[in-house]
Amino acid sequence: MKVLFCSQPFQENKVDETYEYEYTCAKQLGLDIHLISLEQLIYQDNPLAAVKQIQPSPEKVLAIYRGWMLKPFLYQKLYDALLAKNIELINTPEKYVHCHYLPESYEVIKDFTPLSVWLHKEEIDASFENVYRILNRFGQAPIMIKDYVKSRKHDWNEACYIPDASDKEKVQQVTSRFLELQQDELNEGVVFREFVKLQFLTHHSQSNMPLSQEYRVFFLDGEPMYMANYWEEGQYDDTPPDLQPFLEVAKKIKSRFFTMDIAKLENGSWTILELGDAQVSALPEQADRCEFFTRLKRNFL
Ligand SMILES: Nc1ncnc2c1ncn2[C@@H]1O[C@H](COP(=O)(O)OP(=O)(O)O)[C@@H](O)[C@H]1O
Ligand SMILES: [Mg+2]
Repeated sequence: MKVLFCSQPFQENKVDETYEYEYTCAKQLGLDIHLISLEQLIYQDNPLAAVKQIQPSPEKVLAIYRGWMLKPFLYQKLYDALLAKNIELINTPEKYVHCHYLPESYEVIKDFTPLSVWLHKEEIDASFENVYRILNRFGQAPIMIKDYVKSRKHDWNEACYIPDASDKEKVQQVTSRFLELQQDELNEGVVFREFVKLQFLTHHSQSNMPLSQEYRVFFLDGEPMYMANYWEEGQYDDTPPDLQPFLEVAKKIKSRFFTMDIAKLENGSWTILELGDAQVSALPEQADRCEFFTRLKRNFL
């Protein structure tokens, strides 16, 4: 198994600073690590140059990417360039998008996650009436918004949280502000989600958004592989969540390596907040990176 990290933008022989510690741990554990250039992939549109530091493999070999999120079409380009060298990323482009875009996996996780509806950007641009219509089902309940991948959670009141889904002015304000802030970074469209009552932990020290006991769980081939507290702030319970209620649905998710972020509701049960492709999901601040790679390695011995 190979582990591919992204390099610094203009120093292709150095790992991107954000992944330096992961890279060091993987190296110490004797994993077969390599660097790829996102600068070449994204900005130069040169996937072959992006993977030029990696030698073709005589036999097909599995690889895991650890780096920044990629738009699905770029993941596809990276996947193809590697496959031409007999190197196969753990998730096919279809599997990547399944966990990357919330609408793609919603059908699978809908009984375990807040009620969600979505509109493509074009549908919103066509008429804001489309937004009001789709929000009818939430009545006067609070909702939160995000695009198909990310929210602007640190702009909580301005571009994430809507206290009353029937308040057209507020809906218009928050959604427009969200679109404005996302600019070209917007992923496809907007997802509107029932705002569920999570057990309050603390307010984020910088953005003041309300935090709850949220955990990021990495699943590999249908089994939980590694779990860490999502936030660095606030006092989590001593006992970590029981993953039993999620094990069955995890097996239905069409991805070999994904993350499931779960949070504790006020009633004490747990809900799925989002899924992600584990190759591009950040390890939470206090995660033990060496332990993460130790477990990854163990699964591929
Ligand atoms: N449906 C929801 N109800 C209540 N709080 C939510 C809901 N969805 C997300 N949150 C809160 O908002 C934060 C950001 O949402 P999330 O979907 O994880 O977006 P991001 O991809 O930006 O992390 C979560 O960490 C959680 O605290
Ligand atoms: Mg999140």
